Amino acid sequence: MATNSSPSSIFLLLSTVLCLVLIFGCSEKAEAYRFEEMTANLQQQSHVVSLSSLMPAEVCSSPAQGSKILSSQLRVAHKDGPCSPLKKEGKAKIPNLHQILIDDQARVKTIHSKISNKDLVDQDPVAPDEQQKKKRKARVADSAAKLPINSGQSLGTGNFVVTIGLGKPKQDFTVVFDTGSDLTWIQCQPCAGQCYSQQDPIFNPSASSTYSNISCNSATCAQLQSATGNIRPCSTTCIYQIVYGDNSYSVGYFATETLTLSSSDVFPKFEFGCGQNNQGLFGSADGLLGLGRDQISTVSQTSQKYGKRFSYCLPSTTSSTGFLAFGSQAGASSSAQYTPLLTDSNNPSFYFLTITGISVGGKSLSIAQSVFTTSGTIIDSGTVITRLPPAAYSALRSAFRQAMSKYPSASAYSILDTCYNLAGYSTISVPTIVLSFGGGTNLNVDQSGILVQASSTQYCLAFAGNSASTDVAILGNKQQQTFEVVYNVAGGKLGFGAQTCS
Ligand SMILES: *[C@@H]1O[C@H](CO)[C@@H](O)[C@H](O)[C@H]1NC(C)=O
Repeated sequence: MATNSSPSSIFLLLSTVLCLVLIFGCSEKAEAYRFEEMTANLQQQSHVVSLSSLMPAEVCSSPAQGSKILSSQLRVAHKDGPCSPLKKEGKAKIPNLHQILIDDQARVKTIHSKISNKDLVDQDPVAPDEQQKKKRKARVADSAAKLPINSGQSLGTGNFVVTIGLGKPKQDFTVVFDTGSDLTWIQCQPCAGQCYSQQDPIFNPSASSTYSNISCNSATCAQLQSATGNIRPCSTTCIYQIVYGDNSYSVGYFATETLTLSSSDVFPKFEFGCGQNNQGLFGSADGLLGLGRDQISTVSQTSQKYGKRFSYCLPSTTSSTGFLAFGSQAGASSSAQYTPLLTDSNNPSFYFLTITGISVGGKSLSIAQSVFTTSGTIIDSGTVITRLPPAAYSALRSAFRQAMSKYPSASAYSILDTCYNLAGYSTISVPTIVLSFGGGTNLNVDQSGILVQASSTQYCLAFAGNSASTDVAILGNKQQQTFEVVYNVAGGKLGFGAQTCS
């Protein structure tokens, strides 16, 4: 198959041919098979996991299923892995789990401080009792006091990248995509403040015929500034500023430009941030693609064409790729099971859903419903490790430890407290973990989302507990891997589709 070192045109050609074969040859059979496989999996009690499948590889092996690139589909890769376009030839960097977990915790902390007042709304809202309302008010006051000044509207830097086109003539940029933030921005010349080093040439607005500044007098600017909490005195150009949880930031001109997602999907006057002063942990990504659900997000700005519908498949290893799809292609080919998406007017960017239960090894854990209703839950593409309310996590951990009791335990690793020393094993048996969501939808977590490799012999359960029962639970990307996750924002539902990437 195509590797990262192949020219992208060859890659495209190969994957197109492969897709045609898939579409016309065997798609129906494959769907039926996948559906049976998914149903059967719900009764399954354990996975036989080959430990080598959990180790990072140094070579990109773009597998068949993950490489389909149709129109409106972008190829998704781990930011730091060998399939990333950001990786220089021959310099595959194996991501450092310790650092990933530190960044992950910073992101989670920011999310927790932002979502401290939950007023979730769906088609059938349940009125909170007075006691809960009082608690919520207290929490809001509490967290408002603790919020750092300039907390901005964004979270952290995320782990998966896609390539988008900007400008006319179009130039390609590899950006982190993030369902937890709205504004799309890229580093921009003349870098009036400073730009960090990136691999692609920095976007030059004066070389594009369609770039245009947004005036600070405009309604668009007022909307952006009130959303980001950065109202600035107006002289000419609208200024945006995003400060992330870890103090990374991007500041620059709010502008419009031609966005190209595929040859047939071109969006004139797309509102984005032309970053003049950028610093932080973006790796060498050129910027960020905001897929939150607020008004300035890519999802909202492309809604005329895509109907606020997108999906992604996140690859389970750094050596494979997934996809990000928009519009009617999202969820079209995988029979997804849906759960209602909930909204919180105080946190309009986030995608809320409801967890109703957890099973380990085919047995449903005894967790009171109030545990999940007290915390609330969001799904996030940028958080790695799923965070559960303390009571839910401790139930999961006990059941998992019991099922894994035949393996020698090892010390905790960073935020992961359930680890095993698997020296001498090549395959092990791991209990299945099924997360159940509102509407009866189940996610039977792929085996790649249950254990992570911490060191050569140490493997840890890839879940963590929140410290407070009121902290929002987060369905992280590790547990979303290999499934097509379908965001039907207009339809108010989120689906887990077939395992369409590996
Ligand atoms: C955009 O605004 C900045 C700051 O006011 C200015 O320096 C730049 O020339 C403007 N660009 C265009 C194309 O108008």
